[in-house]
Amino acid sequence: RRRDTRTVRDYIRTIVDFPHEGILFRDVTTLFADARGFRMAVDQLLAAYAGEAIDKVVGLEARGFILGGAVAHQLSVGFVPIRKKGKLPGAVISQAYALEYGEAVMEIHDDALRPGERVLIVDDLLATGGTAAAGISLCERLGAEVVGCAFVIELPELGGRALLEGLGHEVHALTSFEGA
Ligand code: PRP
Ligand code: MG
Repeated sequence: RRRDTRTVRDYIRTIVDFPHEGILFRDVTTLFADARGFRMAVDQLLAAYAGEAIDKVVGLEARGFILGGAVAHQLSVGFVPIRKKGKLPGAVISQAYALEYGEAVMEIHDDALRPGERVLIVDDLLATGGTAAAGISLCERLGAEVVGCAFVIELPELGGRALLEGLGHEVHALTSFEGA
């Protein structure tokens, strides 16, 4: 039997013209659905932070929950969700961020992180970086230290890495797609 040489990138499906014409949607459901692919993705995210002290994993709704939950479990640390406005039941702090059209708001429970805690932020995809920057800001407003921001995919042309690195943050992505 031939050895399976597929990489994380090979499991990502591209959907043409979703959610609207001209967009190539990078779909991670095909990565998550494959036992080997999902394990590879989680293992590679972990490998990037081997040796780093991490107290909590913060996942960004929605696909960041799937990856972040697996990473937190493997690190034996807690998982904290950052959700879209109105979803979290307890007292929250909020952060607005820019979308392609208009604005959205992300929230974190105001007692979810303690000052000085070292957190790893996880999401599926880095595009403009607006979502991740809002996530960083929420963590920092609670006094946590963001150790890194980890993604499966980055779309370099949209400037997310430049934005986050410009804010002084370390960015790691498993694969990148040009022609976003
Ligand atoms: C997508 C993706 C990232 C974000 C990246 O989420 O999952 O979270 O966009 O874009 P940015 O870098 O330009 O901010 P989306 O807002 O579509 O929501 P979802 O994850 O809940 O589907
Ligand atoms: Mg998202």
